Amino acid sequence: MTTKREGKAIQIEGLVVRYGERQVIDHLSLEVGAGEVYGLLGGNGAGKSTTLQAILGFVTPSAGRVRVVGLDPSAEPAVVRRAIAYIPENVALYDHLSARENVDYFLRLARLRPEPGEMEAAFRAVGLAEEAWGRPVSGFSKGMRQKTAIALALLRRASVLLLDEPTSGLDPGATADFNALVSRLRGEGAAILIVTHDLIGVADIADRVGFLEKGRISDEMAAEGADRFDLRALHDRFARARAA
Ligand SMILES: Nc1ncnc2c1ncn2[C@@H]1O[C@H](COP(=O)(O)OP(=O)(O)OP(=O)(O)O)[C@@H](O)[C@H]1O
Ligand SMILES: [Mg+2]
Repeated sequence: MTTKREGKAIQIEGLVVRYGERQVIDHLSLEVGAGEVYGLLGGNGAGKSTTLQAILGFVTPSAGRVRVVGLDPSAEPAVVRRAIAYIPENVALYDHLSARENVDYFLRLARLRPEPGEMEAAFRAVGLAEEAWGRPVSGFSKGMRQKTAIALALLRRASVLLLDEPTSGLDPGATADFNALVSRLRGEGAAILIVTHDLIGVADIADRVGFLEKGRISDEMAAEGADRFDLRALHDRFARARAA
C-alpha cells in the first residue's frame, strides 16, 4: 500500500450534491483514515452511491469539501482515481477474457507491470482458486469477480478502497472470505469505505459505522472491545435513522 499524504485518506466536510433541483447529499461529513474500515449504512436512495461518486470525482459538489489522500477529486480526477480502487456492486470485467488477461489488461491501462509471480500471489491472497485463473470470467460468480477486482486493487497498491454493496448476493462462506480479505487490506494500511444496507455484515468488519439518512449522517458508532458492536443497539439506531 502506498503511504498516505497528510491528513486522513478520505476527508469529506459539509458535502452537498444536487441533481438538478434535488439535493441528495445534505452537508455530509466523514473521515476514513489509513488502516480503518468505515461502514456507511443507509436504505435505498439514501445517497450511498452518490457519496462514492463524489469521492471518485464523477459528481461535482455544490458545496463542501472532498479530499482523497489530500487531493481534490473534482480538480485532479485522474490522480485521485489512481489512488482508489472502486469495487461496484457488479464488477465490470471483459467476459471473454480470463482473470489473468483482465488483470493484465487493466494494469497495462494504468501503465503498471507486475513483477514475475506478483499476479499469482495476488490471486492467492484473495483466495481465487488456481483452476480459475485462466478461465474466461463469463463463468465467474459474483464473489469470484470481486476477488479478481480486489486482486487488481492489490497489484495497483490502491491506498483507498471504495466498496458498494460488496456482500449483497454473496453466500455466508463467500461473505466470510470477503470479510477476511477486507481485514487483511486494512492490516496493510488501506482506508476502506463500505456502503451497504447490510447492517449485520458490516458490523463484523467495520471500525466505525455511520447512518446515512436523506443524504446526511444522522449518527455514528465505533466498534468497542471484543464484542465490537452491540448489534441490538446498532439495529435500533439504524431503525431510528430510517424512521427519521
Ligand atoms: N444521476 C442521477 N440523477 C438524478 N438523480 C439521481 C442520480 N443518481 C441518483 N439520484 C437520486 O439520488 C438519490 C440518492 O441515490 P443513490 O444512488 O446515491 O442512493 P443509494 O443510497 O446508493 O441507494 P441504493 O441502496 O438504491 O443503491 C436517489 O433519490 C436517486 O434517485
Ligand atoms: Mg447505491
